[in-house]
Amino acid sequence: MGGEKRAVALVISGSIAAYKAPMVARLLVAAGWRVIPVMTASAERFVGSVTLSGLTGEAVRTTMWDSDFAGEMHVEIAREVDVIAYVPATADVLARLATGRADDLAGALGLVGRGPRIVAPAMHPRMWHHAATQRSVAQLISDGVTFVGPIHGAVASGEEGMGRMAEPEAIANAILGVIRVRDLEGRHLVVSAGPTVEDLDPVRFLGNRSTGKMGFAIAEAAADRGAKVTLIAGPTHLATPAMVKRVDVRSTVEMERAIDEALGSSLEEADALVMSAAVADYRPAHVSATKSKKGDAQIAIDLIKNPDLLAAVGAKRGAKQSPVLVGFAVETSGEQLLAYARRKLVDKKVDFVIANPAETAFAGESNRAWLVTESDDCDLGTLKKRALADRILDEVGKRLLSQAGA
Ligand code: CTP
Repeated sequence: MGGEKRAVALVISGSIAAYKAPMVARLLVAAGWRVIPVMTASAERFVGSVTLSGLTGEAVRTTMWDSDFAGEMHVEIAREVDVIAYVPATADVLARLATGRADDLAGALGLVGRGPRIVAPAMHPRMWHHAATQRSVAQLISDGVTFVGPIHGAVASGEEGMGRMAEPEAIANAILGVIRVRDLEGRHLVVSAGPTVEDLDPVRFLGNRSTGKMGFAIAEAAADRGAKVTLIAGPTHLATPAMVKRVDVRSTVEMERAIDEALGSSLEEADALVMSAAVADYRPAHVSATKSKKGDAQIAIDLIKNPDLLAAVGAKRGAKQSPVLVGFAVETSGEQLLAYARRKLVDKKVDFVIANPAETAFAGESNRAWLVTESDDCDLGTLKKRALADRILDEVGKRLLSQAGA
């Protein structure tokens, strides 16, 4: 199901709450999803299709009878998407889904889609509590449909009660989470994160701007997906994600030791190593035991090369497929970004490299990224770090599955 990106059919029906559907679309697009907007006839009275197509970059689908479209619209959309979400879902939509009506695109999609179905109901509280609606709700729950809301609060009429649509963030998270399966259950992932710093003396060090956010997001996402996670972290103030074993290190040599221990002497202890740490390439040849004093107008620091941790694991793995190895390449030279990333892929003998321009790589919440494999450079766009983490893990998961099938 789906192409490279996760995809959702966002079906909008006719309720005042439809004005919040574009916000849900926007959150999903920001998370790296493809959003195919679908509107019922009455939804078109509440929200503009230009807004939706502008936000999603997709044509808005309203009918099964679009003469420009070759093939069966409902079948084609269902083939493209992982999830179908009804945002908002009116009482009418719930009734139609519960009874399997297929005389418009929204209903037909509900029948032909293979993935999960999510509804975010919105209606007047008396409509929600009506026995007919509650029969639909019970039927849909027993059919496996996921409900987000409604919530108690002010509704369009000015009254208060149960029937207000859930907030856009909650709906987007439910959509993102519904296929975040525990596909890494039983796997051990080792993730390195943050900088390594190299001490010059007891108070000074050489370091870099890595904050560790990307690696921590990967560790969190892997744990959410059921993996056992060892997070080897350089100095950072980030909180340890739930259910993650954290090993704090400072220097590259300390990180090397921690990685060796986590992977085992023949790399048999881990299913994947994701090296998101910004590892220092050099360390001072001499570390002063006491604070160095100011002296000459110019001084030089002798540096010696650190081991390349990822390349060492790549060389040790040789022709084997396990563990899956993932590298990062952060570069300032835009045009060379992908060429450098590919060189790292080859030199370090890893499965894929995530390439980021340095301008967006550090500290921020989002990353511009490409996924570079032996055969392809896949542009992932600009994604929130957590969404990028999930894309990386999708790729790791695919490779683990193909190993199992090999
Ligand atoms: N890496 C590593 N050990 C090192 C240096 C880098 O394991 N001593 C890993 C990083 O964690 C990253 C990948 O190798 O996954 C690429 O790191 P990067 O610093 O971009 O590349 P380098 O190999 O150091 O090359 P250069 O600094 O010349 O770009």
